[in-house]
Amino acid sequence: MCGIVASVTQRNVINILVKGIKKLEYRGYDSAGLAIINDQKNIMRIRCVGKVNELIKKVKEKNIFGNIGVAHTRWATHGKISKENTHPHISSNIVVVHNGIIENSSQLRNFLIKKGYIFYSETDTEVIAHLLHWEQNKKKEHLKTAIQKTIKQLYGNYSMVVIDQRSPSELIAVRSSSPLVIGLGSEENFVASDQIALLDVTKRFIYLEEDDIAIIKNREINIFNKRNTIIHRKEMYSNIQYNTVEKTGYRHYMEKEIYEQPESIRNTLKYRLQENNTVYFSELEKKEKKLLKNLENIQIVGCGTSYNAAMVAKYWFESLVNIPCHVEIASEFTSRKPAISKNTVLITLSQSGETADTLLALRYAKKLNYLGNLTICNMEGSSLVKESDLCLLTKSGIEIGVASTKSFTTQLTVLLMLVAQIAQIKKKTHIEKKIVQNLYMLPIRIENVLKKDQSIKIIADQICDKNNVLFVGKGELYPIAIEGALKLKEISYIHAEGYPAGELKHGPLALIDQNTPVIVIAPKNALWLKIQKNIHEIALRDGLIYIFSNYNDYHENNTFFIKLPYVEELIAPIFYTIPLQLLAYHVALNKNRNIDQPRNLAKSVTVE
Ligand code: F6R
Repeated sequence: MCGIVASVTQRNVINILVKGIKKLEYRGYDSAGLAIINDQKNIMRIRCVGKVNELIKKVKEKNIFGNIGVAHTRWATHGKISKENTHPHISSNIVVVHNGIIENSSQLRNFLIKKGYIFYSETDTEVIAHLLHWEQNKKKEHLKTAIQKTIKQLYGNYSMVVIDQRSPSELIAVRSSSPLVIGLGSEENFVASDQIALLDVTKRFIYLEEDDIAIIKNREINIFNKRNTIIHRKEMYSNIQYNTVEKTGYRHYMEKEIYEQPESIRNTLKYRLQENNTVYFSELEKKEKKLLKNLENIQIVGCGTSYNAAMVAKYWFESLVNIPCHVEIASEFTSRKPAISKNTVLITLSQSGETADTLLALRYAKKLNYLGNLTICNMEGSSLVKESDLCLLTKSGIEIGVASTKSFTTQLTVLLMLVAQIAQIKKKTHIEKKIVQNLYMLPIRIENVLKKDQSIKIIADQICDKNNVLFVGKGELYPIAIEGALKLKEISYIHAEGYPAGELKHGPLALIDQNTPVIVIAPKNALWLKIQKNIHEIALRDGLIYIFSNYNDYHENNTFFIKLPYVEELIAPIFYTIPLQLLAYHVALNKNRNIDQPRNLAKSVTVE
């Protein structure tokens, strides 16, 4: 979603700003802009609808120069996609870029209009700029004091960076529920909503915490907490390799990330699988192990792909360690008052750790009667990680493609290891051993299935002109059908739905005709005979069937078989995800879609 980059330096700030927001493109946006204060202390602002490359062209034409500036990519929430609504927003000497939503902006707007302020945009950000200007000038306040007075009046989630023409050597960064990270340089400093934006210029970061206000100059940084006390925040060194944010020869980040999965899973498993077939999480100390020992129920919340991973985990927790597990979409969880069974642990699942719905679910759950909470997350330093009692990192590496791929399979990997950990605590060592042995095989199994790319491409060629596609599966492969459908719809824009195979006869069979491909995930397992019956039902209605399986015993008309290599049953959900990712990728490629940044979507969904 929206992205912020800002810097105060002794060189021209323009390159830092544009390179930074270019790196944030993957988050999704509709317009981009920047503003600097030049040597003559004038504010120079350039904005445009569309891609950062357009902005870069305009910046080159204007040939501007300055040592301090802010830049922003906007994903429209308040007001349409237009140049006027694009950040930065200005009120006289004040320049603001902002992520998040100010819920009481219309009341504040009315107040400011009465005070004589003129609005040029429909945004809540311009409200912040004018309010700040009003507070600064009412009693000739210092900028920090004016900001403190301003934010007391704002309701909502936001992070922002402010520059002031009157003190052009400092950036002020404010964090409230939306992430901001300070990048530390040599005689220059930076701020961004995501460290990826700054990897070109630094590896040293300080994550701001809730309600922090940072005053950032090129040689000095002061961070104030809510009580206006100077506070020390820990510096972190980023291990993200620069080439992990490059495409390294692949056509798209999504393709690269699909192919990275054996490696990502190896990283996820590293040091956590022991030679004696046990699992070991260094994150779990005595207290955390006690939490897992006492748990009697699990509630998982997440959104989108992360929710689909949770659905698979439900099958594992219940069948392998006999722990009842409830799974819910985060935004629905916060829309009701859940009844909580005794000794329930809440698990949040998220790649980014910044998804507003999931974060709000965690905060909501903290007020309820849970035994504790744990997050399974890919982003160290993210809000979910910071706010959870315990975190198990997925370690898949940065994921840039908007469509989640390696983060899904590594989430499942961690979830399965967590099941093994619970089995260990509950002395079900045979279960733990079986899981560990299967997980050892996982990277190789995935390497094998990735070799089927060309046969999947052939299927993609056949379905890319269809309007609807159904995906079906059974047991723990049913959520994989849902995930396959989600991947296809989000990057190809073909309507797709995932169903339990047995559910077709209760409605969706009405959709079956020769133009509606049905992708069936049907490995040879205990449910194979049952799913065969469902396949027969589709064939009788002239459905166009594509069966993904390791076992070919289908003689129906109009049925295509995609033979996949052998995989152990336990890890089949992870394995069968891969061909569906490849299918979605090739269909989208055929249709010439913007695969890494599908329309209307954002990588990190920081609004409710
Ligand atoms: C789909 C996709 C989204 C995310 C969802 C949650 O491919 O990427 O559905 O899974 O927005 O994001 P995280 O996992 O960051 O909380």
